[in-house]
Amino acid sequence: MTQGLTTNGWIFFVLGWGFILALSFYCFRRVLFGKKPEIVVEAGGREQWGSRVGLILAVAGNAIGLGNFLRFPVKAAANGGGAFMIPYFVAFILLGIPMMWVEWTIGRMGGAHGHGTTPGMFHIMWKKAPSKYLGALGIVIPFVIVIYYNFIESWCLGFSWFSITGKYFGHANREAMGKFLRGFQGVESNEFFSSLAPILIIWGITIALNFFFLYKGISKGIEVLAKYGMPLLFIFGVVLVIRVLTLGTPDPSQPELNVATGLGYIWNPDFSRLGSASVWLVAAGQIFFTLSLGQGIINTYASYVREKQDITLNGLTTSSVNEFAEVILGGTIAIPAAVIFFGLAETQVIANEGAFNLGFQALPVIFQKIPLGQIFGGMFFFLLFIAGITSSVAMTQPAIAFLEDEFKWKRKKAVIVVFSVLVTLTAFVIAFFRFGFLDELDFWAGTFGLVVFAAMEVILFSWIFKIKKGWVEMHKGADLKVPKIFRFILTYITPVYLLVLLGYWFFTDAIKEFLMKDKDPVRHPYLWGARFMIVALLLVMLLLIRKAWNKKRAEQQGL
Ligand code: ALA
Repeated sequence: MTQGLTTNGWIFFVLGWGFILALSFYCFRRVLFGKKPEIVVEAGGREQWGSRVGLILAVAGNAIGLGNFLRFPVKAAANGGGAFMIPYFVAFILLGIPMMWVEWTIGRMGGAHGHGTTPGMFHIMWKKAPSKYLGALGIVIPFVIVIYYNFIESWCLGFSWFSITGKYFGHANREAMGKFLRGFQGVESNEFFSSLAPILIIWGITIALNFFFLYKGISKGIEVLAKYGMPLLFIFGVVLVIRVLTLGTPDPSQPELNVATGLGYIWNPDFSRLGSASVWLVAAGQIFFTLSLGQGIINTYASYVREKQDITLNGLTTSSVNEFAEVILGGTIAIPAAVIFFGLAETQVIANEGAFNLGFQALPVIFQKIPLGQIFGGMFFFLLFIAGITSSVAMTQPAIAFLEDEFKWKRKKAVIVVFSVLVTLTAFVIAFFRFGFLDELDFWAGTFGLVVFAAMEVILFSWIFKIKKGWVEMHKGADLKVPKIFRFILTYITPVYLLVLLGYWFFTDAIKEFLMKDKDPVRHPYLWGARFMIVALLLVMLLLIRKAWNKKRAEQQGL
């Protein structure tokens, strides 16, 4: 493996950072100094965002999550480094940005008709009966994700506390930290943790905080969280990037283990990987996951945008903020630090083991080896926690919005009911974590589900609702005229790209996954349990949709 950044590595590094910085600069200049949006305040009705900056930060918070800081570096490192950035940016431009505009448009249009979730939104675009049932996925997918996401989020809060208090300090090797992590997760009882009490307390705090912000509502809860959380996340992120870039060569006997080698591991391109279809799939999957697309959650946030308020520039701005957090911050912290302390070969092993081992096992070892490591560790895990909570509130909101909008429930009642279900189902994730319950939910909802749902959305938008109408809708009150080429991309390229992706996944991953070919038979009953949970949630949702529409029909007929 190459040491340092090669010439090609430098080129990719400069182009990648340059593209993201230029896009972010362009968007922010226009948001801050461009034409002021026309704000039309409608009397009564649904909740709305308090300000444009608040809205952008909330949607950016929705998108920026654990995916940016843990999932992205692992995927980039394991799939060709700089070469991975080619399919990544292609997917960003052909799938990410266009789908972001589509979801904002569908969302704002739905909100104007009193619908904050995709059953109602799809019904506006396609007046036929099945459309509202297809929209069920836009509530069930994010809800299934948040069932396990809030558990991982609590690890971040826990590790932030353990770093500040130095609880794991004195165990500076991966083996001991692996034990610490497993003990904390409740997978085993050991010298670090002998009961589930610590994880349950910290998870309880995590749930309580999520509950609090959602109970407060859109502008007083979610927006306030984003307004304080996002600046803090960026400050911590920049401080950590500077810390990694100034690590020097901690081991003088291995001068090649320095920041250039760390960055080279992310950016030196391995062009041979571009021929592999799976690399293109992973890149597209990452774009969906990180931008929070294909989950119905951007739609729900956009439903609280006023009818004539811009969505094109806002959509592009939130995408650029997310990419800044992902490529510039996320790509510079975890993996380069791992290379500097563990070397190239071991970092490869860590990257192949996945995001959790990188974040919760390898990085704590590093924090024990640097001056003020307790503080830097506390900052890193708290950054992850902010990234997590600003995404988890977004994933819970569609279920709440559905009950409020379609059944006219009071927000507080909806929040209490949704959290009761959430807490009950997460308890299964915690109890069966060691049997792969979490990974099973993640595959079907967080990987496969996103692409299925996004494909449905773009076909509905471009072909059934029709791109001509969609384009006009998108440009109502727009501060940015979207280049015409994107009309062509949305009509042909994005749907075909998604269908090919889906077809390929179906045959390579989904079938293998469905048959549980590589899974230990001991785990099978638990994995079936996870699937049952998803199917049960979907059925309940379908029934609720039917009930809501029947009720509305009866009301309209004056029954
Ligand atoms: N977009 C969120 C993340 O990156 C889900 O974690």
